Amino acid sequence: MTYRVPFVDPREHYRRLKPEVDAAIADTLARGDLVLRRQLQDFERHFADFVGTRYAVGVSSGYHALHFSLLASGVGAGDEVVTVGHTFAATVSAIVHAGATPVLVDVCPDYNMDPDALGRAITERTRAVIPVHLNGRVCQMDRIREVATKRRLIVIEDAAQALGARFDGKMAGGFGLAGCFSFYPFKALGGLGDGGAVTTNDPDVARTVTLLRFNGEDRETGEFHLHGYTALLDNVNAAVLDVKLRYLPEWIEHRRRVADLYHQRLAGVGDLSLPHFDDSRHFDSYQNYVARTAHRDHLREFLAGEGVETLVHWRKPMWEHKGLGLPDPGLPETERICREVISLPTSAETTPQQVEIVAAAIRRFFGSP
Ligand SMILES: Cc1ncc(COP(=O)(O)O)c(C=O)c1O
Repeated sequence: MTYRVPFVDPREHYRRLKPEVDAAIADTLARGDLVLRRQLQDFERHFADFVGTRYAVGVSSGYHALHFSLLASGVGAGDEVVTVGHTFAATVSAIVHAGATPVLVDVCPDYNMDPDALGRAITERTRAVIPVHLNGRVCQMDRIREVATKRRLIVIEDAAQALGARFDGKMAGGFGLAGCFSFYPFKALGGLGDGGAVTTNDPDVARTVTLLRFNGEDRETGEFHLHGYTALLDNVNAAVLDVKLRYLPEWIEHRRRVADLYHQRLAGVGDLSLPHFDDSRHFDSYQNYVARTAHRDHLREFLAGEGVETLVHWRKPMWEHKGLGLPDPGLPETERICREVISLPTSAETTPQQVEIVAAAIRRFFGSP
């Protein structure tokens, strides 16, 4: 189905950047720079500068960033890792694959980890916490870090949805021992396919992730230091990401303007609640613009009929997917969120006219003049 307003528009995204993206790909291929070359190192340096950390290590996905960060922090069998129930499955799968036990807690109305729930979930086996900065909003990192410091927990940030978001002036990915990012094509900084990165100020974490992504081999000496994985960020992908990174600040400003426009047109309409939360310490990057309504399913259907594509993150709580084998942690806010949330079209390419089409359709649905 072709939508009048698609959720994201990868063709338009490419059209706008075509000369630079094509040149980066052609140059990289012409040089034969396919694996672990200068383009990857340049991108890693620029990415670390952007996030404000000493190191960034490119890997093949956000999932691998999480998995390798846990392994590099020494998290493993017998450990519990606290994270939220309202996240993408990859956060939890990374904990499981590291050999540890995930402990899921509830979120606040801004969709992010409830620091009090974190405090209550800690046992003598808890080793680490993964706050997930969802939808482009950083968690309450002052309170989370306070709990973590007091209880000697390792903090690994899932910043897959929060590149460029800030809290108290500090970028997502710069608060914990490690920050984990995804360059899945529809993220704020999206690559040619899968990709990810770990940010850190710790040289040992950076080195261990560097070894893990390349089968444990130190490329300088040829020595294999551990049993690793094949999980590089491809060099051509890095070259394209390096081009796009230059545009990221303006794309984030654009997303914030789109969010403002939705707010202007939709505040007070029906029973909608909108993702604008009081706390001036947050600088949100709006990876997703997520509204809530008790009429979610009907609204989605209505919008599809109007040519507006929307998404739902996520339709049911993770523990209801039987194949994941997770116990029901009983998280009422997470369950409500699954019934009520709807993500509206938001990207660097979304135009004010498209926002108006979406907002007008939503107003019609709720009978708002
Ligand atoms: C919150 C969150 N964590 C982790 C990931 C995993 O990233 P990737 O798809 O690059 O493996 C995603 C990606 O969708 C995500 O949204």
